[in-house]
Amino acid sequence: MINLGQKLLKEAQRVIPGGNQLLSKRSEMFLPNQWPSYYKFSRGCVVSDLNKKKYFDFAGMGVTSCILGYADRDINRAIQKGLRNGAMSTLNSPQEVELAKKLIKIHKWSDMVRFSKSGGEACLIAIRIARAFSKKEKIAFCGYHGWHDWYMASNLSNKKNLDEQLLPGLGNKGISKSFKNSIFSFNYNDIDSLEKIFKKNKNQIGIVIMEPMRFNYPKNNFLKKVKNLAKKNGAILIFDEITTGFHENLGGLHLKFKVDPDMAIFGKALGNGHPISAVIGKRKIMDFAQKTFISSTMWTESIGFIAGITALNKMKKLNVQKNLVKYGKKIKIGWAKVARKNGIKISINGLNSLPVFRFEYPNKKEISTYFTQEMLKLGFLAKEAIAITNVYDDKIINKYLRCVDKVFNKIKKIQSKKEKFPLKGPLKHSTLRKISY
Ligand SMILES: Cc1ncc(COP(=O)(O)O)c(C=O)c1O
Repeated sequence: MINLGQKLLKEAQRVIPGGNQLLSKRSEMFLPNQWPSYYKFSRGCVVSDLNKKKYFDFAGMGVTSCILGYADRDINRAIQKGLRNGAMSTLNSPQEVELAKKLIKIHKWSDMVRFSKSGGEACLIAIRIARAFSKKEKIAFCGYHGWHDWYMASNLSNKKNLDEQLLPGLGNKGISKSFKNSIFSFNYNDIDSLEKIFKKNKNQIGIVIMEPMRFNYPKNNFLKKVKNLAKKNGAILIFDEITTGFHENLGGLHLKFKVDPDMAIFGKALGNGHPISAVIGKRKIMDFAQKTFISSTMWTESIGFIAGITALNKMKKLNVQKNLVKYGKKIKIGWAKVARKNGIKISINGLNSLPVFRFEYPNKKEISTYFTQEMLKLGFLAKEAIAITNVYDDKIINKYLRCVDKVFNKIKKIQSKKEKFPLKGPLKHSTLRKISY
């Protein structure tokens, strides 16, 4: 049977550079020449491809955005009502005030909110406001914060600066040189690396922006130490919660770690896959949004706000994050058990709600490609990182773990005979260094 997704991808690559809009959704990142690539519909945790074959999604649930599952009935209903009332108008949508109040209520340290549609955009807004406030040019960052010039500019002084933060080999083509030597990366759980940046750039670092957690939990009070260091040096601390927010607890992960920043950024799960992102912060800082120009027509459409309000209400009502953590723990335990049973070496990391494992072998890319290939045959979109969704249940998870067991068993047999893995296409491309879903 012709893989209709791969056929469409060939057409796409002629009219869309790279074939799509998001690196993490490129077929080559999963299974070159074999990945279904496009979906006809997605519902709950099931995705149907163009060949009408259905899969359980254990490969990130819409790049971590669909905590409540795909096509959530309550969100769809609220959105449909919003569409009937008109998603756009000359006047503003009252829902933006409601969503702002909800975010402030969850994050008691914050006073004000600005909204946009995507995560990278929200990071840019946060940076602009924080720079207007601090009046300092330079930025220290840790993690991934979108595609914009300010972030990519860290590769201007050294083309390898983003290798450890995001992806090797990105280079710096097309990035304005005006940011050169002003954007510096520090390493997670390495306070010395941040201290060095402050020392080298005395009184010039105005912003510290970071993901509150990546693969590993913070160690030795790392987040508190970052906060203290930022404060001591007169820099604003921004937590980028675009991936971490709303998975482990209702709100930013920093609430769980009990370290409040000056500003925080949300996206993805906030609208359960609908376009809405938010920057929250303390009033004295957020007020500086008024001293610069931050404005966009499409930030005013109502659907994103409606999706955000409905998602937050539902998460709270169903105590969703408790389920996510419970399912994630079950999967982590399950991985460890089937790996032990089959004598496969893996390491397990990440939040319980965003669990990750890694094959610990020199040929891990080959094994990983084979894993995705064989899981696909068994009806799963799967890689080593999972974003738990509330629509998983014990039955689906048990089925998933039985399939992982089968594939690990095959891997062990091939690996112990030192045979080549029977792959039907090339190896998958490198995934992002960030928590890659
Ligand atoms: C921590 C973090 N910041 C920023 C972004 C960029 O968000 P978006 O892809 O919505 O622009 C992402 C996306 O993966 C992210 O994980």
